[in-house]
Amino acid sequence: MRTHYCGTVDESLLDQEVTLCGWVNRRRDHGGVIFVDLRDREGLVQVVFDPDRAEVFRTAERVRSEYVLQVRGKVRRRPEGTVNTDLRTGAIEVLGTELTVLNAAETPPFQLDEDEVGEETRLRYRYMDLRRPIMQTRLRLRAQVTGTLRRFLESHGFLDIETPMLTKATPEGARDYLVPSRTHPGSFFALPQSPQLFKQLLMMSGLDRYYQIVRCFRDEDLRADRQPEFTQLDIETAFMDEEAIMTLMEEMMRELFAQVLEVPLHTPFQRMTYAEAMHRYGSDKPDLRIPLELVDLTDVMAQVEFKVFSGPARDPNGRVAALRLPKGGEVSRKEIDDYTSFVGRYGAKGLAYIKVNDINAGREGLQSPILKFLPDTVVVEILNRTGAEDGDLIFFGADKARVVNESLGALRVKLGQDRGLVERGWRPLWVVDFPMFELDDKENRWVALHHPFTAPRTDDLAALSEHPGQLVSRAYDMVLNGTEVGGGSVRIHNMAMQQAVFGLLGIGEDEAREKFGFLLDALKYGCPPHGGIAFGLDRLVMLMTGAQSIRDVMAFPKTQTAACPLTQAPAPVSEAQLRELGIRLRPMGGDKKEA
Ligand code: AMO
Ligand code: AMP
Repeated sequence: MRTHYCGTVDESLLDQEVTLCGWVNRRRDHGGVIFVDLRDREGLVQVVFDPDRAEVFRTAERVRSEYVLQVRGKVRRRPEGTVNTDLRTGAIEVLGTELTVLNAAETPPFQLDEDEVGEETRLRYRYMDLRRPIMQTRLRLRAQVTGTLRRFLESHGFLDIETPMLTKATPEGARDYLVPSRTHPGSFFALPQSPQLFKQLLMMSGLDRYYQIVRCFRDEDLRADRQPEFTQLDIETAFMDEEAIMTLMEEMMRELFAQVLEVPLHTPFQRMTYAEAMHRYGSDKPDLRIPLELVDLTDVMAQVEFKVFSGPARDPNGRVAALRLPKGGEVSRKEIDDYTSFVGRYGAKGLAYIKVNDINAGREGLQSPILKFLPDTVVVEILNRTGAEDGDLIFFGADKARVVNESLGALRVKLGQDRGLVERGWRPLWVVDFPMFELDDKENRWVALHHPFTAPRTDDLAALSEHPGQLVSRAYDMVLNGTEVGGGSVRIHNMAMQQAVFGLLGIGEDEAREKFGFLLDALKYGCPPHGGIAFGLDRLVMLMTGAQSIRDVMAFPKTQTAACPLTQAPAPVSEAQLRELGIRLRPMGGDKKEA
């Protein structure tokens, strides 16, 4: 049907006949001549119809935006002054000699070049939205990414093996999506939150190196970088320790960035312990492009009168920290109020600050609502530790360490963005030495920071129960520019250890048997040491394309409320289908929120 893609016609084809197929991007009438910008996957080309060919011209008069055309014509040079150097096709145009309307189109629900189209509309008419060049570029880059990753892994002996979608719950910390079984009434499959257990079983099967580009399902609160179904590049290998795995994964990332973006990544990636990341950045996924750091003041504040600071400073779970914003003196009262409500979202009860006007003028040179509560020695210590200079603004957080870290950690990123402090470039980072367990304050029980199959650094079973809070795991996260792009660990390959970890997590023997009996059994029959990692493919592609949300790098994503405006899923099903499954619906009340 065609000889060339529209977007590839250039001067090398001058005076030749071409046949093109594509969509009408725009049609313009210019004093008796009609211009049609014809668009396909590769770009646009300008087609000209003149009235000399009356029949073709009459057809051209009828066409509208998004009509699908087949055009035959001759490539010629554009008249002087009309050359568009931004386009590959910008020096030429095609004089249309034949025109077939392959299909008409109704007026589009939105203009493809319109910027402010609502997301609901974009998703409802996703097939139109995906016609936009930026969306096409993103999906093509995504395909390049998966292709490059596959080639790398295959050249390193990894086998692409599929794992079940209809399966049993895999604990990754989210709710499961359930699928009722017709043949086992009253029983349900869970869609996998990840292939974690299957990939471990594959290592026990001796397949040695596995990978899969695989859909995972998690019913959790959605954000810009979270979707209910998303794609992992999932990897597992036997007989490699964390050093070997991290080295190989770094090599893969370097190859990926070199091939797809022609960007060299620094060797080796920076590494940081979890403790250092929390201490300096208030986050386990710090964006190292932002040159701001938290400074600890907990010890200094234990002795002050000011209860807002001394309370948390004396609390073993508390923290007092400062965040200095260089040249922050220009920040207005109103902006400080806005930042105060911003940290409020993370539970902070306030946002004390000191403006440093003249550091040599003593108290006179400082401006702050809390200055009167702090003795001279403490003020001097604050200025020293933060390295304050004239014109700076210092913010303070005092609360449970978790609240201070989350609120000042988020404020750090926001200030970086608002004040244009985010440096250019790529700052990959490994975060290591995660704690094995974290205390869930509300329920007062231990939860796994990664998943319950992650190996502790120690083989000592007794140490496990003595100081669960101090145990370090063999987990590692890959962080890129403030986004967690991947996470993995060396796994437990010893049944006694696995049972002990389940025990600590409050999973009793019966429950462990019921939920993970197959894994415990498999551990008995010759399990090799093994470990792996999973990358969030959507997040990686989001970063590589500069998109703001993973929805922009998925062909058919869900909305923030986990629905699909295109297909109207999820949707009610017929009474007959329910009966077949042995299911009767409970009335859920007016709104769908949970009680
Ligand atoms: P984890 O739960 O850290 O590890 O997931 C791995 C990576 O998947 C991405 N990710 C998501 N992306 C989009 N939407 C979501 N809802 C979502 N949830 C997670 C993140 C994350 O780093 N089985 C382990 C891996 C292992 O131990 O090998 C796992 O799933 O980028
Ligand atoms: P108050 O004494 O509550 O009026 O607070 C005095 C100053 O301390 C105000 O600037 C508050 O924003 C700030 N502040 C109050 N609680 C905290 C807190 N937990 N962390 C940091 N600053 C706080």
